[in-house]
Amino acid sequence: MIRQNMKVLVVGSGGREHALCWKLAASPLCEKLYCAPGNAGIDGVAECVAIKADDVEGMVRFAQEVHIDFVVVGPEGPLVGGLVDRLGEVGIKAFGPSAAAAALEGSKGFMKDLCARHNIPTAGYRRFSDAGAASAYVALKGAPIVVKADGLAAGKGVTVARTVEEALAAIDEILVAGRFGGAGAELVIEEFMEGEEASFFALVDGETALPLVAAQDHKAVYDGDKGPNTGGMGAYSPAPVVTPELTAQVMERIIRPTVRAMVAEGRPFKGVLFAGLMISGTEGGREARLLEYNTRFGDPECQVLMKRLASDLLPLLVASAEGKLAGMTVQWRDDAALCVVMAAKGYPGEAKQGGAIGGLAEAGAVEGVTVFHAATKGGAGGTMLANGGRVLGVTAQGASVQDARDRAYQAVDRLAWDDGFCRRDIGWRAIAREV
Ligand code: AMP
Ligand code: GLY
Repeated sequence: MIRQNMKVLVVGSGGREHALCWKLAASPLCEKLYCAPGNAGIDGVAECVAIKADDVEGMVRFAQEVHIDFVVVGPEGPLVGGLVDRLGEVGIKAFGPSAAAAALEGSKGFMKDLCARHNIPTAGYRRFSDAGAASAYVALKGAPIVVKADGLAAGKGVTVARTVEEALAAIDEILVAGRFGGAGAELVIEEFMEGEEASFFALVDGETALPLVAAQDHKAVYDGDKGPNTGGMGAYSPAPVVTPELTAQVMERIIRPTVRAMVAEGRPFKGVLFAGLMISGTEGGREARLLEYNTRFGDPECQVLMKRLASDLLPLLVASAEGKLAGMTVQWRDDAALCVVMAAKGYPGEAKQGGAIGGLAEAGAVEGVTVFHAATKGGAGGTMLANGGRVLGVTAQGASVQDARDRAYQAVDRLAWDDGFCRRDIGWRAIAREV
């Protein structure tokens, strides 16, 4: 179907979607770009349409009305909600998995059972829907141990328990107090794994998997990986821990077996497979095990991937949807990229809304820097206001992770936003390896 003059709709409103829109807008094949619902930054590269990302029927109606040729789904909610299936029913192609295949992210129990059936390396586990049985299992296994709500919980469903008491409290919160509603009707208890985490991405078209690159993010809110977990306070790519040898290992032991397993189970996977990896061992003898699958690009990992991607993104996404990835290649710039997330004070708790953000043009003028918006809205007189927890992703490319980081923080220092904060140590692991 790859043709000129395509009308493309991106679904979502975060920094990931700004990065996708920024890259798609540069495609010579894209004639018109919409984003629903988008944000004030995305408005600069796409026409924003006020439809909520999870409003599957509203999205389908709009796509039909304006004759969208191709839809790119950013977040997991609409994937698990069946948006790609519904679009398919009305003859509109979309990038992303069917609801059945998005279960790799939407049900941790499904993902773990699939890995067990197909010998894909991951932590040992058991599934529970009864609090008494789950608690008895924890008492038997001891701590550290990991407790996970089965379904989508906006990144808050995982407790890495250092003590048995913590694990029991997490079980109670999920199965007894019902903190996550239906997403917590079941849980997974799994073995605690040690090592270094990395995010690995591959495009999949049902049968063929095309490796992209790896990135690393920073989940904790404060410097030194302290404080509560967030959606991600920054990211960089390449991730030096993911060597070419490890990439080959991950493709062979994790990604390709998963793609084959999904075909065998009648739920072929199309879209981007985002493998959260735990890497153990030392130079030469590293081994990766799967922490989790996401069935979408990471946020903020997507921002650094898009900065590094030299190929046109649109034909790759279309090929994934059409089952035509075999024989395709992806070109990357040979430099590094790093994203510093600016969040509103209070995040990941109640974040301060509505503060004015100055200096955006000055920040964006630093060489190699693009300021992606994650949650902004326009205010009176052309001002830009904070409108969420993670607000900006200041993303830079540079000859090394260190260079990219220097540029990103130079741009951060040009911003004038009293209510904003960021981590000052994004990229520390990679930089420790670079020197
Ligand atoms: P998930 O949403 O499954 O990626 O879990 C969130 C975070 O919890 C991961 O990024 C890890 O830091 C941690 N985590 C999850 N599962 C495990 C595990 N089995 N062992 C150690 N840490 C884990
Ligand atoms: N940054 C992690 C995620 O997008 O899930």
